[in-house]
Amino acid sequence: MKVLVTSGPTREPIDPVRFLTNRSSGKMGYALAGAFTHEGHSVLLVSGPTNLDVPANVDFIPVETAAEMHDVVSKHIGRMDIAVFAAAVADYTPATVQPRKIKKSGDTLALELVRTADILGSARQPFGFTGTLVGFAAETENLESNAREKLIRKHCDLVIANDVSKPGMGFDSDQNEVLLVYPGRTESLPAASKHELSLQLVDAIVLLSTNDSQPLTNHRFPMTDLELATQAALEAGKLIRQNFGSDATVDEATHHDIKLALDKESQDLITGILLGARPGDALYGEEGLAGNQDSPRQWIVDPIDGTVNFFYSIPHFCVSIALRVAGEIVVGVIHDPMVGETWTVEKGGPAMLNGRPIQVSKREDLAESILYVGCGKDEESLRSGIERFHRASLRARKMRMMGSAALGMAYIASGRIDAYIESRISLWDIAAGQLLIESAGGKVELTAVPGHADAWSIVASNGRVPLDEIL
Ligand code: CTP
Repeated sequence: MKVLVTSGPTREPIDPVRFLTNRSSGKMGYALAGAFTHEGHSVLLVSGPTNLDVPANVDFIPVETAAEMHDVVSKHIGRMDIAVFAAAVADYTPATVQPRKIKKSGDTLALELVRTADILGSARQPFGFTGTLVGFAAETENLESNAREKLIRKHCDLVIANDVSKPGMGFDSDQNEVLLVYPGRTESLPAASKHELSLQLVDAIVLLSTNDSQPLTNHRFPMTDLELATQAALEAGKLIRQNFGSDATVDEATHHDIKLALDKESQDLITGILLGARPGDALYGEEGLAGNQDSPRQWIVDPIDGTVNFFYSIPHFCVSIALRVAGEIVVGVIHDPMVGETWTVEKGGPAMLNGRPIQVSKREDLAESILYVGCGKDEESLRSGIERFHRASLRARKMRMMGSAALGMAYIASGRIDAYIESRISLWDIAAGQLLIESAGGKVELTAVPGHADAWSIVASNGRVPLDEIL
């Protein structure tokens, strides 16, 4: 693969003898360039001034300023498969460079600085880079949340975050300890030399890049059902996110509903990943059936829950995947590709959000609760739904009707809202959410709607707020 690595500090000249710079040694970027080459990839290293030797067989373009690095990257990034931005680029540069050495005069000296271009932030737009994009975040506080904010803001596939306030780590040191912040999860790698760490990082980045373009059947490691479902949800989420805001092809529109070509595309992608890895399984999705329908193992898939929101450019929708074995839901994953939140659960284990255990809310009083009451799509459920909404709204603190049942259930599992009530809903909307809520300490009651296969009325809650009076 072709890999671009930026590294080192930049130097922003003040006058012919002085410059602004930072404490980056360039060691991490150089170690990464060496490790990619060692693994057989072709590397272009673009670096600010360092004391390091350029690793063997690495193409090298030296730069000084942020502006020079920006120009070189913009010229070369288009032909790359992977771009890793390890440089500590100056965020500000002197507004003017004095042509002659500044002589000392008064007691103070003010320098006017202006912002430099954000190179990593330009990679997707305007550079148009579509490969695997990796940034670094050197932080002194709120490591994970700051890194996740960068991940989203700069449209990265991965942000490698380190806490530079830890003694002996990061800047100028040979050691580093990092968090890998992905859209749907965070992993931590223990402290290691920058050399060892770079080998692990190259593996993680190459894997990410391979998974970006190929179905999971080529995955190197055997995966658990939960890992497989998570991977499928993330891949589908990526497809949906890439299409968000652009004109979608409508396959079918009724008065109260819309089906997009993307619903089908997303389900096809999920089917390829799940059944590619588990060819004997059955799949039951909103967009139809696939696989061996006699199998006791059945994947239940909603490829986009909240299609109407998606179509109207409202960023609130998700992918929902559950696995039912012999009639019992054993795995659930709900992924919100816009916020980068992924809920996961295995039967008997804790419900998790981005790798951390979650619990339903402890609220017991309706007057403090937030209720999501859906009103359905057909005339009858709209009528009864509105009446219930009216009753509930007089008792609850706030009502919400958000447009994605699965995401609403994930919000209950996380303790954000307290209950979800709807009189007619399909299995694929609620299967993963049910296991999530129950594993997070809540309660889900389903009643079959007579005369409709797999249609349910649902009352899901934290198990504490009294709902009987409003049902
Ligand atoms: N980066 C870049 N071009 C810049 C600034 C940063 O390419 N002009 C890249 C770095 O190489 C790194 C990531 O962006 O991969 C760091 O993000 P950034 O938000 O710039 O980090 P800080 O400067 O530490 O941010 P802040 O002051 O916002 O915390």
